[in-house]
Amino acid sequence: MAYPTELQGRVDAYLSGLRFSAEPGTAGLEEAMRYSLLAGGKRIRPVLALATAEALGREPSELLPLAAALELIHTYSLIHDDLPAMDDDALRRGQPTCHVAYGEDVAILAGDGLFAEALRLVLERQTGAPARVLRAAAELVAAAGVDGMVGGQFLDVTAAGDLDAPGLRRLHELKTGRLIGAAVECPILVTGETGPATIALRRFAAELGVLFQIVDDILDVTGEESTLGKPQGSDERHGKRTYVSVFGLDRARELAEESHRGAREALSGAGETTQTLARITDYILTRQT
Ligand code: IPE
Ligand code: IPE
Ligand code: MG
Ligand code: MG
Ligand code: MG
Repeated sequence: MAYPTELQGRVDAYLSGLRFSAEPGTAGLEEAMRYSLLAGGKRIRPVLALATAEALGREPSELLPLAAALELIHTYSLIHDDLPAMDDDALRRGQPTCHVAYGEDVAILAGDGLFAEALRLVLERQTGAPARVLRAAAELVAAAGVDGMVGGQFLDVTAAGDLDAPGLRRLHELKTGRLIGAAVECPILVTGETGPATIALRRFAAELGVLFQIVDDILDVTGEESTLGKPQGSDERHGKRTYVSVFGLDRARELAEESHRGAREALSGAGETTQTLARITDYILTRQT
């Protein structure tokens, strides 16, 4: 099933309308932030947030500030992930990485800026009952934090050599799964939805996050640089523990399929309007980019 490009288009349009600086002195910082943010990208996390709103019977566009904030945080994580001290990659989203284009100092600040601006976007522009918006904002930063993406990145750069299979799954849950989970959880919190569908949606989101990173590990081995828009073989060059290095390519593919089945099964308990979420799930398994 096809990826929901209509929702992706709405996200792209909203992101390109964002401005972060009115001050001439910091125009260069804003330029570096927008360089990475608007370079393309699948927009999986914001699209997932809009599709979750749809599944909850809401108008997706109501969630655009929150959805965009997810993409700002994700883009910040990519800029920092590519730095020489991290994965040391020179290509991202089909163009030179932020530090190659603007220097390491500016790239670090561009990442920092995107993170702070993400929170500002939610707090200033997300509509909804204030207590609910605040809970969603708390979930968003928790997912990005030590018990989430940044903690996962820490495991990735430090514990890589001695991770067993459960340890690797945990790494994926934190590094990638938590932010993808937040793309489902935050809309649930903003809308204040509490019905049984939300339990199924949460199970779905947890499995989807791990699926996403297993496929990312596979594509690092099997993908084409020109299609991926980022270097192929980065994990192997850095001796990373991945689903492919731990399980082998064939088993990694089987595990991706198991994970995909698990996500689809969870979704079947999440109500009537989950077609778009199903399309995203299928796309995540079969994507080449
Ligand atoms: C890449 O994320 C980094 C991971 C968390 C695996 P995406 O594959 O979503 O990258 P873009 O946003 O489409 O560039
Ligand atoms: C990074 O994982 C996940 C982040 C939180 C940025 P990877 O290092 O595998 O991501 P890619 O392959 O460079 O996109
Ligand atoms: Mg990395
Ligand atoms: Mg990387
Ligand atoms: Mg990768």
